[in-house]
Amino acid sequence: MKLIRFIIIFTIFLGISACEFGPESPKGFSLPKGDIVAGEKVFMKYKCLACHSLEGYQDKTLVKEFDTPVLLGGTSSIVKTYAQLVTSVINPSHKLVPRNNNLDEKVVNPDGTSKMRVFNDVMTVQELIDLIAFLQPKYKVEPINYTHYGQYRVL
Ligand code: HEC
Repeated sequence: MKLIRFIIIFTIFLGISACEFGPESPKGFSLPKGDIVAGEKVFMKYKCLACHSLEGYQDKTLVKEFDTPVLLGGTSSIVKTYAQLVTSVINPSHKLVPRNNNLDEKVVNPDGTSKMRVFNDVMTVQELIDLIAFLQPKYKVEPINYTHYGQYRVL
């Protein structure tokens, strides 16, 4: 009996750890450390405020795309980790399903994709790195361990 119980618990444990470290896991994902001041410029340059509101930031020259702008920062329902913050910028339609329940329909296209503009063709990787450095402190996301270069480890 004890052995069976052990096998069951061990199998469940294996299942849980497989999920955490599977090939799709964001574990270990990290961008190099960015520059917050440069990130603020990126945020204004790409006119994120046309659809978003962020405490302390205004741009009256922009034509607003939504009656109620999508709030950035704070404790968002969807951005809970660093990886999710990066994902919501470069792949906005990802994880839209849970968001649909609590956000206005207008933010989603009829085909279910996000109305958020995709900047992947125009934004440089450096701009993305700086933008995330600027946005991250506005969210209550789990802290990230940045990649430390110069260390060599044989796997
Ligand atoms: C054309 C409108 C539009 C523009 C421009 C836009 N977004 Fe968005 N964004 C959205 C919408 C709509 C959502 C919410 C629905 C979703 O997840 O796609 C969103 C969601 C997000 C989220 C996740 C929100 C949260 O806190 O849960 C982040 C982060 C974000 N946008 C960042 C940006 C940044 C940074 C820029 C500028 C580089 C930008 N967005 C430009 C429409 C836009």
